Amino acid sequence: MNTVYVDSPVDDGTRRSRLFEGQLYVFTPRPSTAALCAFARELAEAAFAPHDPRTAQHHMPVEQYAALLADLKPRFIHHPRSKQLIEAMLLDFGCDPDDTYFDVPRMRTATAEGYLTSGIAYAFHPHRDTWYSAPMCQLNWWLPLYEIASENSMAFHPQYWNTPVRNSSRDYNYYAWNAESRTTAAQHIKTDTRKQPRAEETLALEPQVRMICPPGGVVLFSAAQMHSTVPNTTSHTRFSIDFRTVNLADLRSGAGAPNLDSACTGTVLRDFMRVSDLERLPGEVVATYDDDTHDTGVLVFDPAAAAPSR
Ligand SMILES: [Fe+2]
Repeated sequence: MNTVYVDSPVDDGTRRSRLFEGQLYVFTPRPSTAALCAFARELAEAAFAPHDPRTAQHHMPVEQYAALLADLKPRFIHHPRSKQLIEAMLLDFGCDPDDTYFDVPRMRTATAEGYLTSGIAYAFHPHRDTWYSAPMCQLNWWLPLYEIASENSMAFHPQYWNTPVRNSSRDYNYYAWNAESRTTAAQHIKTDTRKQPRAEETLALEPQVRMICPPGGVVLFSAAQMHSTVPNTTSHTRFSIDFRTVNLADLRSGAGAPNLDSACTGTVLRDFMRVSDLERLPGEVVATYDDDTHDTGVLVFDPAAAAPSR
């Protein structure tokens, strides 16, 4: 990884191959991204009224705040308008609507001063999304809803692009995660007991790269990038949204970032929907990324019940 491309006009295929080499892309706001963020802000502002979502944490007990988030986040995640706005955005970014699949968007909050950092507002330790059953060709699209500062952003740890890290992804199974803990995220207010994959060695978090773009800007990166939530030392809660994409041709050909250290089981691929018509990925393609944990009868996966919180 050595390059950050800003507002690069290259086609989607070139962009994906560079992302699979560890490069990063940043885009300044454009109408399609601004529309998605405006919708998310509208829901957040309605939920926290009369408070500003960025400072609402200073006006209520943490239990009440967590309850508001537990209502707000699924509403945004599953709103049909969210999907329409993502479809429009991906078309605007030159993604092939018949080959590009996306999952529902998440809304994330990084509260200030350690107010709420578990459960529904989990502060992410350094991780690769590929430790969480994502395919190596998955891309992550991340957009801040309001102005962000370096002190409440997200950090990349580029030295780990080429360096494997001993980690506990071998213990992570996506279906078990869905069945056992995802729906209880809102209950984890003081601590978070959910078993997440994490490094089993001390990581050097410096140097790190933080991308500060305006509200409605986009940071685009490979799911194999090591990244983390920056501890928020500002006085404002950071609100962001993100979603992931995969490309059918990549899934068929096996294109993607190199797998240095992911050993999780299961796959997130059943969550993805085609841009053109919201169809799910072909079963035979998903099967090549799956394993025998899908039908054990113990680990039940229900896409309709999967309300992602991470
Ligand atoms: Fe992540």
